Amino acid sequence: MIVDERIVTFINSLETENSEILEAVEQEALSTYVPIIRKEMQSFLKVLLMIQKPMCILEVGTAVGFSALLMSEAAPEGCRITTIENYEKRIPIARENFRRAGKEEQITLIEGDAMDVLKTLEGSFDFIFMDAAKGQYIRYMPQVLRLLRPGGTLVTDNVLQDGDIIESRFAVERRNRTIHSRMREYLYELKHHELLTTSIIPLGDGVAVSVKKQEGE
Ligand SMILES: C[S@@+](CC[C@H](N)C(=O)[O-])C[C@H]1O[C@@H](n2cnc3c(N)ncnc32)[C@H](O)[C@@H]1O
Repeated sequence: MIVDERIVTFINSLETENSEILEAVEQEALSTYVPIIRKEMQSFLKVLLMIQKPMCILEVGTAVGFSALLMSEAAPEGCRITTIENYEKRIPIARENFRRAGKEEQITLIEGDAMDVLKTLEGSFDFIFMDAAKGQYIRYMPQVLRLLRPGGTLVTDNVLQDGDIIESRFAVERRNRTIHSRMREYLYELKHHELLTTSIIPLGDGVAVSVKKQEGE
């Protein structure tokens, strides 16, 4: 945990309930060890969406559809969501959750590896939420930048890796070293890319919020 646990507990104690379907999907996900966005990230996402009012959202990493459903509730009416997932056990559960929520028209789930799927997508998105394989974000970046409209927002979750990100490469477990160095590279790019303005926030497991610059900025 990168933030004092008591602070997180306090903040979360102030949370109000989500809709019935979100509460149910969250409980099912947690009881089956499916990783979904944390409470503090949930309200942060909602606030960002209510500020940005995107009509077209792309999510990388559906899991069982919890965050896609949450975004569908916070985004304006008529907003379309495309979400990508490659784990075949989770795909039917996500589809069933979209059906239960009556959102199967609004949310399109594309099955497959994000790298392959991203290359095939056309058009532009107002808001992109990256919540899949952390070690791959740097590889997705050119496609994500192509798909994000100028003025659009890119939100990347879990960027501080439970605090490991500040450790030296050698202090990180050997099996996590590749992800560690790729995430550092990704954060550097987010902060230095000429098309992006990025803020890295120690919320949840660390979230980066980037805005793609408009022409002339
Ligand atoms: C943290 S979970 C997503 C949680 C979801 N956004 C939520 O909060 O409800 C990450 C998901 O990304 C998926 N994933 C990982 N690598 C992927 C890839 N290369 N292509 C597509 N999905 C991937 C995993 O199978 C997993 O279900």
